[in-house]
Amino acid sequence: MQQASGLLRSAGFEPIETASIDELRALQWTRLKRALRYAYDHMQVYRAKCDAIGVHPDDLKQFADLARFPFTTKQDFRENYPFGMFAVPVDKLARIHASSGTTGKPVVVGYTQKDLELWANLVARTIYAAGGRPGDKVHVAYNYGLFTGGIGSHYGAERLGCTVIPMSGGQTERQVQLICDFDPDLIMVTPSYLINIADEMERQSIDASKLALRAAVVGAEPWTEAMRAEINRRLHMRARDTYGLSEVIGPGVAQECAETEDGPTLWEDHFYPEVIDPETGKVLPDGEAGELVLTCLTKEALPVMRYRTRDLTRLLPGTARTMRRLERVTGRSDDMLIIRGVNMFPSQVEEQVLGIAALAPNYLIEVRREGAMDALSVHVELREAAAADPVAVVQELRHKIKTFVGVSADIVIAPPGSLARSQGKAVRVIDRRRAS
Ligand code: DLL
Repeated sequence: MQQASGLLRSAGFEPIETASIDELRALQWTRLKRALRYAYDHMQVYRAKCDAIGVHPDDLKQFADLARFPFTTKQDFRENYPFGMFAVPVDKLARIHASSGTTGKPVVVGYTQKDLELWANLVARTIYAAGGRPGDKVHVAYNYGLFTGGIGSHYGAERLGCTVIPMSGGQTERQVQLICDFDPDLIMVTPSYLINIADEMERQSIDASKLALRAAVVGAEPWTEAMRAEINRRLHMRARDTYGLSEVIGPGVAQECAETEDGPTLWEDHFYPEVIDPETGKVLPDGEAGELVLTCLTKEALPVMRYRTRDLTRLLPGTARTMRRLERVTGRSDDMLIIRGVNMFPSQVEEQVLGIAALAPNYLIEVRREGAMDALSVHVELREAAAADPVAVVQELRHKIKTFVGVSADIVIAPPGSLARSQGKAVRVIDRRRAS
């Protein structure tokens, strides 16, 4: 099976990627019915949720009926920590991963041997869609360990027939040296850490245009078009968005295709998407903005049904593939800041910071309470080579944030290199209101 999938891919896409919509829907329908039945029979937590509201897998007569079934949430993982969510006994798990989460206990996820096969195939498909080919050298700078990014990417790249360089995150100087010495074709990394790598290359006066690197499979955190332009320009490669989450499988859920670079294509034959209104839970038509909800169609150990990702996006029609695309995920509902009544996401600030040539692509948002009011500061750095007037830069950024984000912010210019550099997922916000 491993062989067959490798052979198929070297000849092009898997057939389902370009099947007709009718064929895709037919496959999803068969799988959805089976998955819902399987989850009801094997996941005690989900069965209890269904029973509590009186729905049964037999009630699923058409896709729209899925809306009658309960959501799975991060809270379910917390309440059933560590192993209560699994549909198989723990001794049937081949591997466990966990995502740290910002508060409370980590979210624990598990895979059977069959799930690991599926995952490797999906990440291989992902890398192929991003422009990777068998024989490429792939530098993996996502963290290895409990995080799904490093090891998930690793096995996918191997499955595709690539040569993997399992560097993990951190040790940026060494990272850069190995990129120069081994000359990989692809890099898999968070966007914020890739910027850190670009800074280090500049520090070492390395000419990125001389390197073989042609594409980056970039995700695991929100980023912007402005950040993509910065990466492409400085590293002479194409950064392509990759989306995934531990609860669903890890990386390998959706990938922006090299041909179109128009938002990640969702691997819908394995993950059935819905977008809901985050307030009411009502399913929205395709094209409307809301929270992404995913149902695993083919997993064994942790087939989450209607998982509320908290990620805000829209479902868009397929382009390079039949499957639908996600609009770039610009933030999670949990990351939304409410400043003096205005809703904003860190990525909106990122867009403005990167729109000013004199500013480095690093920033930190600090929120405080001053009396009864929220106060927002944005810490930025000037680029080393920038000959700009700091006062003018402060004024420009303040004006842009006020105009485009809708909030007043204090701008603090920090000395070059003084803001913490990302080692993986960047921390962009310090909210001191929670502590006070
Ligand atoms: O970040 C899995 C992953 C690894 C994806 C490597 C891509 C590459 P978690 O640690 O569970 O899993 O975090 C999942 O990260 O719900 C989103 O909020 C965010 N996220 C992931 N990819 C993107 C993206 C991995 N391309 C959470 N754009 C998700 C925006 C993303 N946010």
